[in-house]
Amino acid sequence: VDGLNTRAVAAGKEYFGSATDNGELSDIPYLEGLSNTADFGSITPGNAMKWDTIEPSRGTFNFANGDTIVDLAEKNGQLLRCHTLVWHSQLPSWVSNGGFDNATLIDIMVNHITQEVTHYKGKCYHWDVVNEALNEDGTYRSSVFYDTIGPAYLPIAFAAAAAADPEAKLYFNDYNLEYGGAKFNAALEIVKLVQSYGAKIDGLGFQGHLIVGSTPSRSSQESNLNKVAALGVEAAFTELDIRTTTPATEAAVAQQAKDYAATVGACAAVEKCVGVTIWDYTDKYSWIPSVFQGQGAALPWDENLQKKELVYNAILEAL
Ligand code: XIL
Repeated sequence: VDGLNTRAVAAGKEYFGSATDNGELSDIPYLEGLSNTADFGSITPGNAMKWDTIEPSRGTFNFANGDTIVDLAEKNGQLLRCHTLVWHSQLPSWVSNGGFDNATLIDIMVNHITQEVTHYKGKCYHWDVVNEALNEDGTYRSSVFYDTIGPAYLPIAFAAAAAADPEAKLYFNDYNLEYGGAKFNAALEIVKLVQSYGAKIDGLGFQGHLIVGSTPSRSSQESNLNKVAALGVEAAFTELDIRTTTPATEAAVAQQAKDYAATVGACAAVEKCVGVTIWDYTDKYSWIPSVFQGQGAALPWDENLQKKELVYNAILEAL
C-alpha cells in the first residue's frame, strides 16, 4: 500500500514516522491512523520517556507510559525513536534545584540514563541522548547539567547510553539547526566533542520545528545534511512540523506543501539522512497552538483527522 513510510523505504530511507502521546491512544480513529504502517514505520513518545515522567523523584522509576508506547510499536511492527534522556526541560526540580556537586550530579545523570536505557534495551532503534544543549548563537545553553558538569556532560551521557544498550543509535537533537549558521556549526562541534572523548554518537537530530514561508530551501538543507554525513554520522528530521498563522489561508497551505517538500526532499536526497518524524501527524494533537500564540495548522492531517491532500501529496512526491 502506498503511503509516506512505504515511499520512504522505497527511496532507501529507514522510516517515515510520527510522534504520539499516551492520552491520544484512546481516540480510536487517531490510533488507527497512527498504526497504519503504510504511513508510519516509526513512532516517538512525545512525553512518556522524559525525565519528569520516568524518574519524578530520586530513584523512583515510572516506566508505565513508556511501556505503553513500546508495546504499541511492537504490536504495529514499528520502530521506536526513544526521546529523551538528558534535557533541561520537563526535568524535575529535585534535579534542577538539587544543588548537587559535580560528582553527585554525574552519578545522578548516569544512573538515570543507565536505568532507563537498560529498561528499554533492545526496544529503542534510536535514543535522543541529549536534547537542546545549545543557544541560538552556538554557545552552550545554561542548564543544571552544563553549569555543574561543563561540556563533558555530553560525552559522559553518550558513553552511559552506549554502555546500557550498545545496539541503539545515539543522537544529539536540537532545533533551528535547519537554518545553518552558528547553532548548526555548534551542533557539528558537539558531534566532534563526543567523538573526541571516544564515546559513541551515531546521529544528529534536526527537530524541524519550521515556519511556513521561512523554511530553508531544499539545497541549503541538503548542504547541512552533507556536513553531518562528513563527520561519519547520520542525520534525521526528528520532530518536523511547519506552522502558520491560524486559520491557515489557502495560500499558506500551498506554501506549506512546498516547505514540507523542501525539507523531506532534502532528506530523501542525502543517503545519510535516515528518516523523517513529524511531531504527531494531526493538528488535533499538535503541541504548536499551546506554545506559539495564534499559530498552528502545522501537520499533514487536520483537526478532524482528514488528510490535507496538497500537503500529504507533496511529502509523498518528495520521497
Ligand atoms: C513537547 C510535547 O509535544 C508537549 O506535549 C509537551 O507539553 C512539551 O514538549 N522539542 C522537543 C519535544 O524536543 O520534546 C517537545 O515536545 C517539543 C519541542
